[in-house]
Amino acid sequence: MSVLSMKAYAKINLYLTVTGKRPNGYHDLVTVMQSVSLADMLTVERVEEQGILLDTGGILPTDESNLICRAAKAYFARSGKPFGVSVRLQKEIPMQAGMGGGSADAAAMLKALNLLDGNRFTEAELCEIGATIGADVPFCIVGGTRLCRGIGEIMEPVKNRLDGVLVVAIGGEGVSTPAAFGELDRKYGDFANVTATPATLLSAMGEGSITAATGCFYNMFEEVIMPIRPVVGEIKDMMLKKGALATMMSGSGPSVWGIFSTEKEAAAAKDALLAAGHRAYLCKMMNEI
Ligand code: C5P
Repeated sequence: MSVLSMKAYAKINLYLTVTGKRPNGYHDLVTVMQSVSLADMLTVERVEEQGILLDTGGILPTDESNLICRAAKAYFARSGKPFGVSVRLQKEIPMQAGMGGGSADAAAMLKALNLLDGNRFTEAELCEIGATIGADVPFCIVGGTRLCRGIGEIMEPVKNRLDGVLVVAIGGEGVSTPAAFGELDRKYGDFANVTATPATLLSAMGEGSITAATGCFYNMFEEVIMPIRPVVGEIKDMMLKKGALATMMSGSGPSVWGIFSTEKEAAAAKDALLAAGHRAYLCKMMNEI
């Protein structure tokens, strides 16, 4: 095998609490991460010439700042056996939206390289390499539904029997993740008074009860992003008016997800959001990727 296509699935957060700040500036968190069907596509080909040739259609830098290049570098540093690759990225996941698009691409790149390399590494080893690239990369390698702790790299599988169709919408510019964490630092200090309580949500998800889950979805970032990005609240209100059972900002925003009972309702909400000038996508939660 010398060429393959690998989907890079976006994530949303169903629950997210920051519980501490480390001396290196990273934050401890407790979060329920969920893969969704919205995905980028990577086409990765093994080529004669050494190095990484990346084509993003001009929408992203192709230098070391690109997480795909960083993933390849980290992979070959660990394997010690570099080979040449040409990579084409078709971007679908909105950028700087809190949906893990860059991490998903890095994860897909690691998985693709490993396949082209005869499955040199186990999934756990790929996650170790992924953790050196970004906090969300290990989750994006494994996917599905996970309760993540630490900076996001300590993962436990979670049963998610919730049904429903998702609409994800974004209004306005991207949000810088470090700046969003900075806002939380200002509000919560050392986070000593914060306790994470995902248990009720987890049991509602296990039972498949959206009614029980509805009041338990949580994202601490909403408290600091909604006041400076009123569009987040506007999108949530629009979704609720269109019949969403629950809505929540994902990650550090500004993307917002809403869960709907039927495809028809979700499609109508998406159309209304598009008509209001927002970006909007229909997708599904994925129990495995
Ligand atoms: O790991 P990643 O590059 O995705 O993180 C982007 C930025 O988000 C980090 O530089 C850091 O400022 C912040 N971050 C954090 N704590 C985490 C994850 C990310 O402070 N657990």
